[in-house]
Amino acid sequence: MSNYHIKHLEEYYQVYRKSIRNPEVFWEEIAEEHFMWRKKWNNVLSWDFSKPDVKWFEGAQLNITENCIDRHLSTRGNKTAILFEPNNPNEAAQHITYNQLHERVNQFANVLKSKAVKRGDRVCIYLPMIPELAIAVLACARIGAIHSVVFAGFSATALATRINDSDCKLVLTSDGSYRGAKTIDLKGIVDEALEHCPGVQAVLVAKRIDSQISMKTGRDYWLEPLLNKASKVCEAEVMNAEDPLFILYTSGSTGQPKGMVHSTAGYMVYAAYTFKNVFQYRENDVYWCTADIGWITGHSYIVYGPLANGATTVMFEGVPSYPDFGRFWEVVEKHKITQFYTAPTAIRALAKQGVDLVEKYDLSSLKVLGSVGEPINEEAWHWYNDNVGKKKSPIIDTWWQTETGGIMITPIPYVTPTKPTYATLPFIGIQPALMDDNANELKGNQVEGRLCIKYPWPAMARTIWGNHERYKNTYFSAYKNMYFTGDGALRDEVGYYRITGRVDDVIIVSGHNLGTAPIEDAVNEHPAVAESAIVGFPHDIKGNALYGYVILKDTGEGRRHDNLRKEINQIITEHIGPIAKLDKIQFTGGLPKTRSGKIMRRILRKIACKDTSNLGDTSTLLNPEVVQDIINNVL
Ligand code: WT7
Repeated sequence: MSNYHIKHLEEYYQVYRKSIRNPEVFWEEIAEEHFMWRKKWNNVLSWDFSKPDVKWFEGAQLNITENCIDRHLSTRGNKTAILFEPNNPNEAAQHITYNQLHERVNQFANVLKSKAVKRGDRVCIYLPMIPELAIAVLACARIGAIHSVVFAGFSATALATRINDSDCKLVLTSDGSYRGAKTIDLKGIVDEALEHCPGVQAVLVAKRIDSQISMKTGRDYWLEPLLNKASKVCEAEVMNAEDPLFILYTSGSTGQPKGMVHSTAGYMVYAAYTFKNVFQYRENDVYWCTADIGWITGHSYIVYGPLANGATTVMFEGVPSYPDFGRFWEVVEKHKITQFYTAPTAIRALAKQGVDLVEKYDLSSLKVLGSVGEPINEEAWHWYNDNVGKKKSPIIDTWWQTETGGIMITPIPYVTPTKPTYATLPFIGIQPALMDDNANELKGNQVEGRLCIKYPWPAMARTIWGNHERYKNTYFSAYKNMYFTGDGALRDEVGYYRITGRVDDVIIVSGHNLGTAPIEDAVNEHPAVAESAIVGFPHDIKGNALYGYVILKDTGEGRRHDNLRKEINQIITEHIGPIAKLDKIQFTGGLPKTRSGKIMRRILRKIACKDTSNLGDTSTLLNPEVVQDIINNVL
């Protein structure tokens, strides 16, 4: 008997030990008993972190959509698979059953085929949170095309970079999107991006906001008429276990975004198994993750994980503040949500609004409250626990990454006793390690270091699209035979983990992972800017906000700094998106540098945090005098 559903703490420890003692036997049992395979594997796992090369279930064949849809049809055909809650609360919610999802995915897959999309081709999906987005993802998987979903808040430049990096031949978008009281011209953004994307052959456009858009003849097609005439039958392409399922971009501390490549079988097994346990999903539950499918959270825990378990998964088009800050709770009451999964930044924003907006609604259906994306601070944890969970729904603080594909460190609700701000224990099969500055593993409890993972897990990314060397350098070079996460963590006296935050130049702003280098590159595009450095500083809603130190080419004679600040943020919005805008911009004459010319961000971070009491030894800097100058002018 496999241990697909863990129900109490002793069972967790027992299964955990088994998964560590003999990972291959463990994962083979899970894979064998809970999924639909066209052909079983020859080998459960082969791996070498020095290359790095990891393969799970080699030799197996499958299609993930058969696991997420087809196999449920006989038992759950009329059950709601996707429950769509629109931006406007007065627009009716849509219940898409497994039967309907099957038809719609097949039709969509046939439309892709009619536009010459073949197995292995890359398809860029730039859609708002409407059912077409989930259906498009599944349609790609149905025919073995590799989807690359780009969050529809990214700018035209960011979109173009991602389309070109993975050579997407088709783009899926909509005429526009709703975001609270606003509409966004998505098609206009795509048009702008495609001026720089010669490889894109066709654009399929879903109708959402009924706006006037221009359609380029021979390239752009309305989706709906194509879907309407497409056949509802589409045989699933038989994929190999290690065939790429999708690419998802995440920012790195330097350079271009990294196209993380996830493969089919291992990802499916891990996303499904974590979903079942971490959310303790039961047959009639209504599960809601508020993330966007443009992020990994949406891939694993709106689409693939829930559907692989035959769950009802909610897709929410709107924002927490529209029409007012009670929207989340209104939706919880309306659909009797049982598991609710959101980000600390949303919790903090809602906590600011006072509890009357929470108390107005009946939240008694809730059983599990999840948090993801950044460390959840103590205050937010308690607010969530007291006011939303009424102290009876456990909070699961789930730590993971785009790269890990699934949840890695987390309490299991009703199994693991929770502790505020702690992600608690490693999930089944996960072997964390904390490393000190000399690359030694810190054994035992009550230690703090850099968080690594010692052993492969099925959903880990296999490479960076087109740049395996970068994959190796970023994740497997800092420590021998370990995957390095980029995060710091501590282990307390009982072995619980608390994530302390990034230890590299990635800053998590409102749960979004932002590399400093690409933002600096954007800032430096401004004709008046000579150089810039960006650091994070604490922000009571966003968790971190961005602080930019900017050196101007001349002193800005005749130019108003306020205008420059606006222009700099405008450039960032154009290059990356509004999420990367700087909260504070300080113009300075110099930046503290080491003798080898490296910017000392540590010092800039402290100054931005107004913590200048202990800057360490600055005398070895190339230009120690600039430090005081910056402190004197700090905003
Ligand atoms: C980084 C990964 C995983 C989906 C969303 C973010 C931070 C994520 C937590 C948590 C503390 C967290 C880490 C991680 N992070 N969850 N529960 N506690 N930090 O995915 O954009 O790839 O970002 O988010 O710093 O490395 P991502």
